[in-house]
Amino acid sequence: MHSGRYENRAANIRDAAQKFQRTLDAESIALQILSAAEVRLDHEILSWVAEEQIPYLGQWQGERVMLLELPHSHVPVGADKLVAWLRKQNIRPMIAHPERNKDIMRSIDKLLPLVQLGCLLQVTAGAVAGTFGEYAQVRAAELLARGWVTVLASDAHNMESRPPELEPGRAAAALIVGEEESWQLVRHRPAAIIGADLIAEGS
Ligand SMILES: [Fe+2]
Repeated sequence: MHSGRYENRAANIRDAAQKFQRTLDAESIALQILSAAEVRLDHEILSWVAEEQIPYLGQWQGERVMLLELPHSHVPVGADKLVAWLRKQNIRPMIAHPERNKDIMRSIDKLLPLVQLGCLLQVTAGAVAGTFGEYAQVRAAELLARGWVTVLASDAHNMESRPPELEPGRAAAALIVGEEESWQLVRHRPAAIIGADLIAEGS
Protein backbone atom coordinates (compact mmCIF):
# COMPACT_ATOMS: atom_id res chain seq x y z
CA MET A 1 0.00 0.00 0.00
CA HIS A 2 1.72 3.12 -1.25
CA SER A 3 -0.35 6.24 -1.67
CA GLY A 4 -0.28 7.49 -5.27
CA ARG A 5 1.65 4.44 -6.47
CA TYR A 6 0.01 1.19 -5.36
CA GLU A 7 -3.57 1.99 -4.41
CA ASN A 8 -4.25 -1.31 -2.69
CA ARG A 9 -6.64 -1.89 0.18
CA ALA A 10 -7.52 -4.86 2.36
CA ALA A 11 -10.36 -6.06 0.10
CA ASN A 12 -8.59 -6.13 -3.26
CA ILE A 13 -5.46 -7.67 -1.74
CA ARG A 14 -7.57 -10.42 -0.17
CA ASP A 15 -9.42 -11.00 -3.47
CA ALA A 16 -6.16 -11.31 -5.42
CA ALA A 17 -4.73 -13.76 -2.86
CA GLN A 18 -7.90 -15.87 -3.01
CA LYS A 19 -7.74 -15.96 -6.80
CA PHE A 20 -4.11 -17.09 -6.58
CA GLN A 21 -5.07 -19.75 -4.03
CA ARG A 22 -7.81 -21.10 -6.30
CA THR A 23 -5.28 -21.40 -9.13
CA LEU A 24 -2.84 -23.26 -6.89
CA ASP A 25 -5.62 -25.59 -5.73
CA ALA A 26 -6.72 -26.24 -9.32
CA GLU A 27 -3.12 -27.18 -10.17
CA SER A 28 -2.89 -29.41 -7.04
CA ILE A 29 0.00 -27.34 -5.69
CA ALA A 30 -0.02 -27.79 -1.91
CA LEU A 31 0.76 -24.23 -0.92
CA GLN A 32 -1.39 -22.11 1.37
CA ILE A 33 -1.37 -18.38 0.65
CA LEU A 34 -1.92 -15.76 3.34
CA SER A 35 -1.96 -12.11 2.42
CA ALA A 36 -1.06 -8.83 4.07
CA ALA A 37 0.58 -5.64 2.85
CA GLU A 38 3.75 -3.64 3.05
CA VAL A 39 2.44 -0.23 4.07
CA ARG A 40 4.50 2.80 3.03
CA LEU A 41 4.77 5.42 5.77
CA ASP A 42 2.23 8.11 4.96
CA HIS A 43 -0.20 10.36 6.81
CA GLU A 44 -3.00 8.37 5.16
CA ILE A 45 -2.19 5.46 7.49
CA LEU A 46 -4.27 7.16 10.19
CA SER A 47 -7.42 6.98 8.09
CA TRP A 48 -6.57 3.51 6.73
CA VAL A 49 -6.39 2.23 10.32
CA ALA A 50 -9.67 3.95 11.24
CA GLU A 51 -11.40 2.52 8.15
CA GLU A 52 -9.89 -0.95 8.70
CA GLN A 53 -8.26 -0.90 5.27
CA ILE A 54 -4.97 -2.40 6.41
CA PRO A 55 -4.43 -6.15 6.23
CA TYR A 56 -2.24 -7.22 9.15
CA LEU A 57 0.42 -9.92 9.09
CA GLY A 58 -0.96 -11.44 12.26
CA GLN A 59 -0.38 -10.86 15.94
CA TRP A 60 2.54 -10.30 18.27
CA GLN A 61 2.01 -10.28 22.03
CA GLY A 62 -1.67 -9.43 21.55
CA GLU A 63 -1.10 -6.60 19.08
CA ARG A 64 -1.83 -6.63 15.36
CA VAL A 65 1.35 -6.60 13.27
CA MET A 66 1.60 -4.08 10.43
CA LEU A 67 4.48 -4.29 7.94
CA LEU A 68 5.62 -0.68 7.74
CA GLU A 69 7.91 0.56 4.98
CA LEU A 70 9.99 3.70 5.43
CA PRO A 71 11.04 5.67 2.34
CA HIS A 72 14.32 4.24 1.02
CA SER A 73 16.12 7.59 1.28
CA HIS A 74 15.57 8.61 4.89
CA VAL A 75 13.71 8.21 8.17
CA PRO A 76 11.06 10.95 8.03
CA VAL A 77 10.66 13.41 10.88
CA GLY A 78 7.59 12.30 12.81
CA ALA A 79 8.02 8.58 12.12
CA ASP A 80 8.36 8.07 15.89
CA LYS A 81 5.10 9.92 16.51
CA LEU A 82 3.28 7.74 14.01
CA VAL A 83 4.71 4.59 15.62
CA ALA A 84 3.66 5.78 19.08
CA TRP A 85 0.15 6.47 17.75
CA LEU A 86 -0.02 3.00 16.15
CA ARG A 87 1.01 1.37 19.44
CA LYS A 88 -1.91 3.19 21.11
CA GLN A 89 -4.21 1.57 18.52
CA ASN A 90 -2.87 -1.84 19.56
CA ILE A 91 -0.80 -2.13 16.39
CA ARG A 92 2.81 -3.27 16.42
CA PRO A 93 4.73 -1.95 13.40
CA MET A 94 7.27 -4.27 11.85
CA ILE A 95 9.75 -2.25 9.80
CA ALA A 96 10.52 -3.75 6.40
CA HIS A 97 14.17 -3.94 5.28
CA PRO A 98 15.62 -1.26 7.63
CA GLU A 99 19.10 -2.33 6.51
CA ARG A 100 18.49 -0.75 3.09
CA ASN A 101 17.31 2.66 4.35
CA LYS A 102 19.97 5.28 3.46
CA ASP A 103 19.70 7.14 6.79
CA ILE A 104 19.99 3.89 8.74
CA MET A 105 22.87 2.74 6.54
CA ARG A 106 24.72 5.93 7.51
CA SER A 107 23.81 5.74 11.19
CA ILE A 108 22.12 2.93 13.08
CA ASP A 109 21.10 5.54 15.67
CA LYS A 110 18.38 6.69 13.26
CA LEU A 111 16.61 3.41 13.94
CA LEU A 112 17.07 3.37 17.71
CA PRO A 113 14.01 5.53 18.61
CA LEU A 114 11.75 3.25 16.56
CA VAL A 115 13.19 0.12 18.20
CA GLN A 116 12.74 1.71 21.62
CA LEU A 117 9.09 2.35 20.75
CA GLY A 118 8.71 -1.39 20.21
CA CYS A 119 8.99 -1.74 16.44
CA LEU A 120 9.77 -5.23 15.20
CA LEU A 121 12.30 -5.54 12.39
CA GLN A 122 12.06 -7.63 9.23
CA VAL A 123 15.44 -7.89 7.51
CA THR A 124 15.75 -9.22 3.97
CA ALA A 125 17.54 -12.57 3.90
CA GLY A 126 19.44 -11.60 0.76
CA ALA A 127 20.86 -8.55 2.50
CA VAL A 128 22.43 -10.79 5.15
CA ALA A 129 23.88 -12.98 2.39
CA GLY A 130 25.31 -9.94 0.57
CA THR A 131 23.11 -9.66 -2.52
CA PHE A 132 22.16 -6.04 -1.73
CA GLY A 133 25.75 -4.85 -1.43
CA GLU A 134 28.32 -4.39 1.25
CA TYR A 135 26.66 -1.54 3.16
CA ALA A 136 23.32 -3.32 3.53
CA GLN A 137 25.16 -6.50 4.54
CA VAL A 138 27.19 -4.72 7.22
CA ARG A 139 24.08 -3.03 8.58
CA ALA A 140 22.05 -6.27 8.53
CA ALA A 141 24.85 -8.04 10.43
CA GLU A 142 24.92 -5.29 13.04
CA LEU A 143 21.15 -5.42 13.53
CA LEU A 144 21.41 -9.19 14.00
CA ALA A 145 24.33 -8.85 16.42
CA ARG A 146 22.31 -6.37 18.49
CA GLY A 147 19.43 -8.86 18.68
CA TRP A 148 17.01 -6.38 17.12
CA VAL A 149 15.88 -8.54 14.20
CA THR A 150 12.53 -10.28 14.62
CA VAL A 151 12.35 -12.15 11.32
CA LEU A 152 14.21 -12.67 8.05
CA ALA A 153 12.10 -12.54 4.90
CA SER A 154 12.72 -13.28 1.24
CA ASP A 155 11.13 -10.05 -0.05
CA ALA A 156 10.76 -12.00 -3.28
CA HIS A 157 9.47 -10.05 -6.27
CA ASN A 158 9.92 -12.52 -9.12
CA MET A 159 11.89 -15.61 -10.14
CA GLU A 160 14.72 -13.76 -11.93
CA SER A 161 16.19 -10.72 -10.17
CA ARG A 162 14.44 -11.16 -6.77
CA PRO A 163 13.79 -14.89 -6.28
CA PRO A 164 12.31 -16.31 -3.05
CA GLU A 165 15.56 -17.37 -1.39
CA LEU A 166 15.74 -17.59 2.38
CA GLU A 167 18.39 -20.21 3.02
CA PRO A 168 21.56 -18.25 2.04
CA GLY A 169 20.44 -15.49 4.43
CA ARG A 170 19.55 -17.93 7.21
CA ALA A 171 22.93 -19.64 6.89
CA ALA A 172 24.76 -16.29 6.95
CA ALA A 173 22.70 -15.17 9.96
CA ALA A 174 23.56 -18.42 11.79
CA LEU A 175 27.23 -17.37 11.75
CA ILE A 176 26.24 -14.25 13.72
CA VAL A 177 23.39 -15.36 15.98
CA GLY A 178 23.82 -19.14 16.07
CA GLU A 179 21.84 -21.99 14.50
CA GLU A 180 18.95 -21.95 16.95
CA GLU A 181 18.23 -18.23 16.62
CA SER A 182 18.59 -18.46 12.83
CA TRP A 183 15.63 -20.87 12.76
CA GLN A 184 13.66 -18.57 15.02
CA LEU A 185 14.17 -15.86 12.39
CA VAL A 186 12.81 -17.87 9.46
CA ARG A 187 10.43 -20.38 11.03
CA HIS A 188 9.31 -20.03 14.62
CA ARG A 189 8.65 -16.29 14.88
CA PRO A 190 6.97 -15.99 11.47
CA ALA A 191 4.78 -18.97 12.41
CA ALA A 192 3.91 -17.37 15.77
CA ILE A 193 2.89 -14.14 14.04
CA ILE A 194 0.54 -15.86 11.59
CA GLY A 195 -0.69 -18.28 14.27
CA ALA A 196 0.46 -21.38 12.42
CA ASP A 197 1.52 -24.71 13.81
CA LEU A 198 4.83 -25.82 12.38
CA ILE A 199 4.29 -29.17 10.73
CA ALA A 200 7.96 -30.09 10.61
CA GLU A 201 10.87 -28.90 12.70
CA GLY A 202 13.82 -27.20 11.09
CA SER A 203 17.15 -28.94 11.32
FE1 LIG B 1 9.76 -2.80 0.48
